[in-house]
Amino acid sequence: MTTTLPGTASELPTPIPSDFWLRPMAEIDADLKILRDAPLSHLHEELIPEGYGLEQGAGAWVVTRHQDILDISKNPEVFSSAQGITILDSPPEFNEFFGSMIALDDPRHARLRKVVSAGFTPRMLSQLEEGVQVQAALIVDEIAERGECDFIVDVAARLPLKIVCDLMGIPDSQLDFVFDRTNVILGAGDPEYVPDATDILTALLTAGGELAGLMNEVAESKVDGTADDLTTMLVNAEVDGEKLSYADIASFFILLVVAGNETTRNAIGWGLRYLTENPDQRALWQADVEGVGVTAVEEIVRLASPVTYMRRTVTEDISFGGAEMEAGDKVALFYLAANRDERVFDDPLRFDVLRENNRHVGFGGPGPHFCLGAHLARREILVMFRELFDRLPDIVATGPAEPLRSSFIHGVKHLPASFTPARA
Ligand code: HEM
Repeated sequence: MTTTLPGTASELPTPIPSDFWLRPMAEIDADLKILRDAPLSHLHEELIPEGYGLEQGAGAWVVTRHQDILDISKNPEVFSSAQGITILDSPPEFNEFFGSMIALDDPRHARLRKVVSAGFTPRMLSQLEEGVQVQAALIVDEIAERGECDFIVDVAARLPLKIVCDLMGIPDSQLDFVFDRTNVILGAGDPEYVPDATDILTALLTAGGELAGLMNEVAESKVDGTADDLTTMLVNAEVDGEKLSYADIASFFILLVVAGNETTRNAIGWGLRYLTENPDQRALWQADVEGVGVTAVEEIVRLASPVTYMRRTVTEDISFGGAEMEAGDKVALFYLAANRDERVFDDPLRFDVLRENNRHVGFGGPGPHFCLGAHLARREILVMFRELFDRLPDIVATGPAEPLRSSFIHGVKHLPASFTPARA
């Protein structure tokens, strides 16, 4: 996917269009290497798809080298999150649902993060731990006798959905409702989730509004409540001496259900694909599930990089990596590309469950926005594979992974799998 850019002599590949990510991984990897080896020379076109109804912006710097991403992440004063986290600007009406702390800078970001961090303490996480194990067992129970499944829909998507909904106090009866809306929010460019490509903005706003409506119902039942869930904490929390606004709570809720669901699902999904393609690595892990688990999970997150990129916006003119960036320029941090940087990772395309010193940026770079759910996600991935190795030890992917049409999320929608049937 080589695009000649207007006003430049560059013929570099550009990872911004969603279709770039629908190609075989070997082609994608070859293009990402070209980008890592090239200087930061020009803004890449935004290429707004039809149906977004947005003005064409000036473009974005595409950052693919690991060290550059570390440097930018550590400098949030100059590389701000507050003008949006995706390359395309969102219309102002999105703020009510999508204006969460991930799209804010300190000090407001830090205050909001402090409120929600209370839900991610070791105590809260150890309470969730038992739930993660119980749910993983139930998920395997449901497929065990069938001998085959759609690994994404039947397994990978189900664990994070249930866990994040429990965390927020959402009843089980609403799981499918939440699943469908989060698919729209992060899969809006994919015709499976939003068939009418001419009206993607309406689909996004509707999904956001419906999740906010559900949050409202759940939140009302929590006012002055003492339940041990995050919604209770948010509804009763104060920031700067004030209760959180409706928009704050709605966008918090949407951030957590979306961030908690769509990422971990893809890590688990790609994980089975990598294990199937690398039987030697699988054998190593299965021989010592707990011992190898820690490095194996990090390796899955590195290679899968479920969040392909995050955007920053430059707040002042700056020379960076040979580029003259101007205030207002967009910068896309391609975490997936940095996680394959041969300057940092030996043989980076190899899936190595024992990889040492795995300094991946799959959960973001070192900075204020580092993933709040990283511990929980690691736990979910480990527990899900432990349960599978224990109960369905020969489970394999039997067909190609069907990728999500998105440049923002490295997603997999379907993955056929089979195994020797077992007792539920
Ligand atoms: C494998 C799974 C996951 C991956 C790969 C992932 C990845 C990321 C990345 C890359 C960021 C950084 C955003 C930036 O640079 O601006 C982030 C932020 C965040 N993640 Fe995750 N995430 C995962 C799971 C989760 C889970 C399970 C939760 C919660 C239930 C969660 C909640 C959040 C939140 C709240 C933020 C925003 C933090 C802030 O702005 O301060 N994530 N995640």
